[in-house]
Amino acid sequence: MMKVKIGKIKLKNPVMTASGTFGYAKEFEKLVNLKHIGAIITKTITLNPRQGNPMPRICEASAGMLNAIGLQNEGIDNFLKEKMPYLSKIGAPIIVSISGNNIDEFFILARRLDKIKSISGIELNISCPNINCEGLVAQDTKETYEVVKAVRKITDKTIITKLSPNVTDIVGIAKAAENAGSDAVSLVNTFLGMAIDIDTRKPKLGNITGGLSGPCIKPIALRMVYEASKNINIPVIGIGGIMNANDAIEFMIAGATAIQVGTANFIKPGVCGKIVKGIEAYLKKHKIEKIEDIIGNLKI
Ligand SMILES: Cc1cc2nc3c(=O)[nH]c(=O)nc-3n(C[C@H](O)[C@H](O)[C@H](O)COP(=O)(O)O)c2cc1C
Repeated sequence: MMKVKIGKIKLKNPVMTASGTFGYAKEFEKLVNLKHIGAIITKTITLNPRQGNPMPRICEASAGMLNAIGLQNEGIDNFLKEKMPYLSKIGAPIIVSISGNNIDEFFILARRLDKIKSISGIELNISCPNINCEGLVAQDTKETYEVVKAVRKITDKTIITKLSPNVTDIVGIAKAAENAGSDAVSLVNTFLGMAIDIDTRKPKLGNITGGLSGPCIKPIALRMVYEASKNINIPVIGIGGIMNANDAIEFMIAGATAIQVGTANFIKPGVCGKIVKGIEAYLKKHKIEKIEDIIGNLKI
């Protein structure tokens, strides 16, 4: 009743954890039944370790939060040695999020992950600087296409391309990912924002600007998921301010095949399990046999 498919990955339910908000899952083992989650997406890893941005890295915003972690992580070698053995035993599909400074780094990362059987898929975090021009890869159709194409060449594993909402035409970028062979797109990453302490007149984040997430972004994310899903033929995974089952269902009616839960994990660490139960209850209440029947089923 709750099964969905993303590329080659068969998920027992459509609830996934959003990258960077669920660590490497072990942190949550006492709070959530990990194997009941549809799929676990790990914190973005890079080729080499990264220290991340200067402190402070997070602050509260109205109905959300700002973060500027700066992709702090210990690099792929450490990830494969220290984190992967645990992740492999969970019993939920594991999708590893990667980011690179250039196309070669994406390629090398994907080549290493491709060899590991217990990894079901790769999420491409393309909210990284575009070396050919100002801005992010995810803001440029050509660069998005090139990164996805390079990764597609090296792996048959399911590729999910994670899009940035900081664009005027989300459909153009989603199509570029699709044309390059991505199996799905996930949207959205965080919205660029900032906050100022008026007494010190200093930015609240060490990086000055950061990414906005949480309930405040939900209506915009929902609109982007709706637009993207109407215009591409690969599954869309909805992300942005999902706090409960009703929010998740809204994204699915808008066109998402699955959803990811981010900021909510910090507020209610057991929220993913509750969302799964809440979606099941909704299907029962409305006598809907398969969750697939609500995907994109918006009544206009
Ligand atoms: C503290 C924090 C760290 C994040 N780190 C990553 C990351 O490493 N990679 C990534 O693709 N997205 C990262 N994100 C973005 C989330 O995965 C998600 O796309 C975004 O927060 C919107 O969803 P939400 O409103 O449910 O939080 C991070 C978000 C937060 C709040």
